[in-house]
Amino acid sequence: MIYELSNPLTKTLVTHLRDQRQDAIRFRHTISELTKQLVYEALKDFPLIERNIAVWQGDGAFFTIDEENIMVVTVLRAGMPMLDSVMELLPDAKAGFLAMKRDETTHKSVLYYERLPECKGKTVLLVDPMLATGGSMVDALDLIKSREPSRIIALNIIGSPEGLGHVNSSHSDVDIYIAQIDERLNDDKYIIPGLGDAGDRAYNTV
Ligand code: PRP
Ligand code: URA
Repeated sequence: MIYELSNPLTKTLVTHLRDQRQDAIRFRHTISELTKQLVYEALKDFPLIERNIAVWQGDGAFFTIDEENIMVVTVLRAGMPMLDSVMELLPDAKAGFLAMKRDETTHKSVLYYERLPECKGKTVLLVDPMLATGGSMVDALDLIKSREPSRIIALNIIGSPEGLGHVNSSHSDVDIYIAQIDERLNDDKYIIPGLGDAGDRAYNTV
């Protein structure tokens, strides 16, 4: 399932991201706000458990998402602001890290570091702002699935139709929540209109 957000506020924030005048701190902040919108939508029907907690009148049972059963996996570098944003909403979730770099000649992703805690039986929220060819996402999903999570939900900010098709054909069981599906890829496999290189924009390496 591919779900594109349709709220006018989402479109507005994506337009802010495209604006080249946005400096890195505002860029990361906007990514973070869009990520929260994606999380609200993705967890709309998520099951609740009851948890006993101490409240002002004594102990009581209250509904909550089982945060400890959620693992947020980010793809470095550009996924870092998304990870921070999800962890603000789900502070007891666990975090995993994949460092990937797309080779700019072959356009294939190269994994250069991974730190995934135990995923078995957990719900994984995989966060990466850009889904261009979809190669990084497919490789990340291959790796995560080998660790046997119960469910994977991908959260992306901007994607191309080609990349989404690629991910969907390899991993049709993964639900993808995305803020904006753009027009196409250019010859260098950048998203058009897109926003340029998200890692560079976020961390001042343009
Ligand atoms: C970006 C982005 C994805 C990848 C998407 O990372 O964050 O991981 O490109 O491209 P794909 O769909 O064609 O695989 P990038 O390689 O630019 O690394 P960075 O985050 O360190 O800048
Ligand atoms: N990575 C990015 O950051 N942007 C693109 O358009 C494609 C890959």
